[in-house]
Amino acid sequence: MSRSAELAAHIRAVAGSAPVSVGLVLGSGLGHLAGAVDGIAIPYSELEGFPHAGVSGHVPQLVIGNLEGVRVAVFGGRAHYYETGRADVMRLPLEVLRELGAGKLIATNAAGSLDPDMPTGSIMLLRDHINFSGLNPLIGEPTEARFVPMTDAYDPTMADTLRAGARASGVALRDGVYAWYSGPSFETPAEIRAIRTLGADAVGMSTVPEVILARFLGLRCAAISTITNMAAGLSDEAISHDHTKAMAPLGAAKLEKVLRAALPGL
Ligand code: HPA
Repeated sequence: MSRSAELAAHIRAVAGSAPVSVGLVLGSGLGHLAGAVDGIAIPYSELEGFPHAGVSGHVPQLVIGNLEGVRVAVFGGRAHYYETGRADVMRLPLEVLRELGAGKLIATNAAGSLDPDMPTGSIMLLRDHINFSGLNPLIGEPTEARFVPMTDAYDPTMADTLRAGARASGVALRDGVYAWYSGPSFETPAEIRAIRTLGADAVGMSTVPEVILARFLGLRCAAISTITNMAAGLSDEAISHDHTKAMAPLGAAKLEKVLRAALPGL
């Protein structure tokens, strides 16, 4: 049995065997969403091979249960490339998600805004991404499956459902392009000007490798950013991880409304 199949068997033994429908990865400071799920929490430390996911603002546990009547698996902690130098650090959790039966992934993140009309506290649905890091979690993958098409990486049908959820809950949800910057240092103002010119609306240090891996595994994907700051050079606001964690709750409340409204239709 593969490690992901073994872990999925363990998770089913602890949390029940009903198949999971949707996986949710929570970004920095968005961990409280896991508390909204009526279910069982399993610490990553019980799941051999799961990443450490030790960045503050993340809770390294997997919660399996129901949210708005939909069976979900919520990854409270995500591991980032910048923690280990491994772009595929979320591969095992996503393989386990697929083993649990999920066909869909919703990734969330905290991000900096490149658009003066998208202030702190906004939420943005990813229409597409720019892999500005040049890294790829599938480097070294030996099978032909590594040549993953990324044309509709952000599933248009899931996006429509999330937009409808936003409308129904009275939350403004705009579309945008997210650029992945490796971190952990924040960007320079010149880098922000560069990615703005390239067509990015938001910047962050996650999500892109997960979406590449999820597409590789055949999961349909959506992603939502919560804007925690204006990106470097776009305002006098200080940029720091503490600021990210402090501002994430502004968008998190909107994000929760949209997810609750959209989940049953996904
Ligand atoms: N840059 C990169 N990652 C981020 C930012 C940012 O400005 N804000 C929150 N995560």
